[in-house]
Amino acid sequence: MPFVSDDLYNEICMANDIVDYASSFLSLKKSGRSYMACCPFHNEKTPSFHIDRDKQLFHCFGCGASGNFVQLVMRLESLDYRDAIRLLAERANITIPESGIRQSSELSKKKDEIYEMNRIAARYFYDCLMKQGVGDKARAYFAGRKLSRETIIKFGLGYAPDEFDALVRYLTEKGYKSEDMVEAGLAIKTKNGKFMDKFRDRVMFPIINVRGKVIGFGGRIMAEKTTPDGRKLAKYLNTAETIVFDKGSNLFALNLAKSSNAPDLILCEGYMDVISVHQAGIKNCVATLGTAITDMQAKLMLRYGREILICYDMDEAGTKAALRAIDIIAAAGGKSRIIRISGAKDPDEYIRKYGVSGFKKAIEKALPSTEFRLSLVKGKYNIADTDGKIRFVEEAAEILAGLDDPVEVEAYIKRTSADTGISAQSIFGKYTEIRNSARRRAPVRTKEDFKKREINLINREKPPEKRVTSAVLEAEKRLFSIIARSRRLCIKAFEIISPDDFSNDTYKLLAKRIKEYADSGKNIDESLILNEFSGDAAAENMAAAVFFNTEEYSDDTKTLYDLIYTIKNNKLKARMNAASELKEISEIMKEQEKLEQDRKQWGKGSQA
Ligand code: UTP
Ligand code: MN
Repeated sequence: MPFVSDDLYNEICMANDIVDYASSFLSLKKSGRSYMACCPFHNEKTPSFHIDRDKQLFHCFGCGASGNFVQLVMRLESLDYRDAIRLLAERANITIPESGIRQSSELSKKKDEIYEMNRIAARYFYDCLMKQGVGDKARAYFAGRKLSRETIIKFGLGYAPDEFDALVRYLTEKGYKSEDMVEAGLAIKTKNGKFMDKFRDRVMFPIINVRGKVIGFGGRIMAEKTTPDGRKLAKYLNTAETIVFDKGSNLFALNLAKSSNAPDLILCEGYMDVISVHQAGIKNCVATLGTAITDMQAKLMLRYGREILICYDMDEAGTKAALRAIDIIAAAGGKSRIIRISGAKDPDEYIRKYGVSGFKKAIEKALPSTEFRLSLVKGKYNIADTDGKIRFVEEAAEILAGLDDPVEVEAYIKRTSADTGISAQSIFGKYTEIRNSARRRAPVRTKEDFKKREINLINREKPPEKRVTSAVLEAEKRLFSIIARSRRLCIKAFEIISPDDFSNDTYKLLAKRIKEYADSGKNIDESLILNEFSGDAAAENMAAAVFFNTEEYSDDTKTLYDLIYTIKNNKLKARMNAASELKEISEIMKEQEKLEQDRKQWGKGSQA
């Protein structure tokens, strides 16, 4: 499973240092032995995200996100395991030797296969676009949209021919299986078992991640079309979620935008907008993938841009989307401004109408997000009359109550006061009132909520007799925290419990590894153990959380045996509750009796 040897893995992590890496995008404060910040994976105002420098692990006590250094890189930069290691290796100027690469996991093999299939498909679409005859219509379409050949090449645009299975046949020739094409999102299995191209008669926009891998496609129709049953075809068709394509954590053209030297990042709505903006020589421009912006995307953008300049359509839908984006970017800890493109429906049209210089002027005049929001509210009311004034001030105070920066609040209060003639003091009063009530209303996610979610996740799809109670899970966590710290107690524990006695696959594997370390006499390497869970966020979180148990337990044999008893006893109880046959019930009763007997003997036989 590991992609590099354990030694090389440790060398790469050490050379980087998790705190040093994380501090480039989190503001970390030292607190005791760990470093703390507001969690990058959920919205919060007081820090519950911890980094343990010694163990090189992270853990959020608020949302439960947890893992090792590489898993942090994976999540923050939307990379898979290998690419995260590559990034860290590059960052520390360490070359990964070919020989250091071990057998990769099934999952990463599968991902590599899909990346490669996508790359071949993109190349195929490009070739179709350029081919005389087949690609004529599509080339004419792009010409009509004023895209140069250079732009087409830079974005790797293409054309999916108007055939039933042109790509399927092409990929079959290359040795790919139809089922794998479906998994890559390139083909569809029809009702009668035939495999059909997913994209037909569309101009194609490959979606490429920061590492330059083709992860999916968007395909646009060139003219309005209806299906035989009279439905209108969607303008764009995008690859559905696949194991390499997550719409919420990638951005169109980030692979190009990340190497522009501009300080900020421009966010557009459409692929065509981004392409036009790039063609105009402005390279720091990205778009979401046909969905509203997510928290992950906001964080990803803030890695590459100081501020996000939102450049959405100026219609009602665009304005709404922009307001949402402002909120999400703010929650991610970033600032945004709004580029207003009045007189055109979208940036693409704006550039064609007003030229590159016009667009550059619009960028310079981008409004800070608060000013934009206030201007929208102001537009709603007639502030020449008293009633309008009052309502405007109320809504303005509402907006200001959401801000964190007191200087910003003061500046806008003064501005609003000047606009309306209502004193700054009254506006401030309104602001404080809303802020105080909002604080009371704000939902707090408690540790209890988190535990409930964890249990539900573990019990999902489990038959009743296998379901876990929170008592068992707690006992298991405590047991882990003891056996991970003490080799002596670990060996004792596994004299009477086996890794398979744990309640879920994550814990079973974790227990197995901890036992192996104890048996071999080596010190536990938490980070290496956690690597085995890479790629499955829920498992990563659960496994890493075990090493972050901060509650104080006594490291004694009695506690150890009590915990093991709780686990075993609860397991029997769950089986009993689900049992219906007499034979089974009497068997369980025998086991319960035996457990009670055994318990009295625990520790007596060993060298305690
Ligand atoms: P737009 O309609 O603004 O598209 O939708 P556009 O990119 O400017 O394209 P042109 O100018 O009409 O050619 C914005 C984005 O929303 C997604 C696409 O990602 C598109 O780029 N979208 C739109 C879809 O996913 N499906 C659709 O049917 C329409
Ligand atoms: Mn458009």
